[in-house]
Amino acid sequence: MLIAGNWKMFKGPAEAARFSGVLHTMLAGTKGVDVVVAPPFVSLPAAAAELRESAIRVYAQNVHWEPEGAFTGEVAAPMLVEAGAAGAIVGHSERRQYFGETDETTARRGHAALEAGLGVIACVGETLEEREAGETEAVLRRQVEAIAAAVPEPPAALDVAYEPVWAIGTGRTATPEIAQEAHALVRSLYPVGRILYGGSVKPENAEELLAQPDVDGALVGGASLDADSFAAICLTAARLSRS
Ligand code: PGA
Repeated sequence: MLIAGNWKMFKGPAEAARFSGVLHTMLAGTKGVDVVVAPPFVSLPAAAAELRESAIRVYAQNVHWEPEGAFTGEVAAPMLVEAGAAGAIVGHSERRQYFGETDETTARRGHAALEAGLGVIACVGETLEEREAGETEAVLRRQVEAIAAAVPEPPAALDVAYEPVWAIGTGRTATPEIAQEAHALVRSLYPVGRILYGGSVKPENAEELLAQPDVDGALVGGASLDADSFAAICLTAARLSRS
């Protein structure tokens, strides 16, 4: 199991260091779950320094496909490595929705990060409009196939996150059945190691989601900003993976 906390645009360097220290203590010695936190770019070195002695890994929230160049506002994979990151999220729905991220740029970013030795969490998921129009399967197929075209043989460092856009930050979680159905579809399209569920995952609903056969972890937004909530989700995953 993998539990990843996406901090989005929260926690500057000082708070990232403090919070990482708390998580380190709370999760020390926890077995059966891989834990990732994804702070904003500027907070990566602070979080990485604080977690150096910990099994918790630090991911960026995005990464560019070129190793360097004239790409104002972007950050390259080798720079993330230097900053202490072990991986990057790519194609998050907020990137797709607000910053013009496409299936193609998502795939290029993911491919470059893997080439640089980083882990990757590649996000897919349908909007409410698409679900209501009966397009969920076609959308997931299109998004997953773009990643598969760039990375035909998924390495262990690549995870996919299924995040229905209508469940992100809305408090509206997919039912375990909806999540399972989407995860099984993704798995049938692409032999990726782990498929995480994301979208309003909380300590209260983590167990039923993580208990689904094709749900191998969670990408947690809001609830990852609170140490008690995030640790509770990590401990639930650890317990389930042992049982
Ligand atoms: P949420 O966000 O848990 O706040 O819904 C999930 C995500 O965007 O990764």
